Amino acid sequence: MREVNIGPASEFADPGRKIVAFENFEVGVFKVGGAFYAYLNHCPHMGGPACQGKIIPKVDEVIAPDRTSKGFEFSKTQLNVVCPWHGFEFDIRTGKHAGHSKARLRPMKVRVESGDVVLTVPDAREQPVAEAAEA
Ligand code: FES
Repeated sequence: MREVNIGPASEFADPGRKIVAFENFEVGVFKVGGAFYAYLNHCPHMGGPACQGKIIPKVDEVIAPDRTSKGFEFSKTQLNVVCPWHGFEFDIRTGKHAGHSKARLRPMKVRVESGDVVLTVPDAREQPVAEAAEA
């Protein structure tokens, strides 16, 4: 493993993201609510560039006390990234798919040090392995 400084934390929008390319893989680095999250840019479904998709609030169904649906609304607390290939959505704070417990993005270590964002990623000769999603 190696540590890589990818630049000032202040250059990230919030919410925002950057895709960082390495020799044989990419990492999506997200900033949400002042915190940073990083994942291998490889969808557990079929290998699409999940981290490059749209960033949107999770859609929640509003259920009345009588258990009837009152429609849908955008979450005020959860942001998802949507894989551009087939639409799997992943919680940016956890990397998990809401409806498929085994589908999640592979997390990478990220921290802010002296104002810069520092990633911990595999060495150049290592091939990072994505999390598997069982159908
Ligand atoms: S490859 Fe990401 S949803 Fe299919």
